[in-house]
Amino acid sequence: MNVLILYQSRGGHTRDTAEAIAQAARELNHKTVIKSVIEVQKADVETADVLFVGTWVQGFILFGVKPAGAELWVPALPSLKGKEVAVFCTYAFNPRSSLHKLSAMLTTHGATVLGEHAFHRSKPHDHVKPFVQTVLQAVRQ
Ligand SMILES: Cc1cc2nc3c(=O)[nH]c(=O)nc-3n(C[C@H](O)[C@H](O)[C@H](O)COP(=O)(O)O)c2cc1C
Repeated sequence: MNVLILYQSRGGHTRDTAEAIAQAARELNHKTVIKSVIEVQKADVETADVLFVGTWVQGFILFGVKPAGAELWVPALPSLKGKEVAVFCTYAFNPRSSLHKLSAMLTTHGATVLGEHAFHRSKPHDHVKPFVQTVLQAVRQ
């Protein structure tokens, strides 16, 4: 399958996790492309059989913890209509409902969400392999 991994990263932790996801998918003999959410093109999404989309999380005193900047970058993504997507984030303390919020936004953008996983920033590679394996097994062939 063609696997597209999209990430939104400020300090590099989410990019590290995205790279570990790409590596795990390659080890399972899938083709991978990895891009930041701002560089992705429509053709990248069209070619993909499945996407992983991840971000860091950001806390706000009045609004709780959110997928950072997602209200800006999700609507700017190419359409995800008909695309199966797995969602991930990296966090420092507690991601709270960030994954759920990101899944809801991606669903509004057309995606079907297959799975979610939060990675602590101190262990960006922990549980990557089972997460990738479970998601790729769930993809409609
Ligand atoms: C301004 C700011 C706010 C943050 N708020 C939270 C938070 O509320 N909860 C949390 O678990 N982590 C929070 N973090 C930590 C980041 O989500 C975490 O370090 C993440 O792994 C950073 O990813 P990146 O290196 O890809 O940017 C915050 C970080 C920053 C810079």
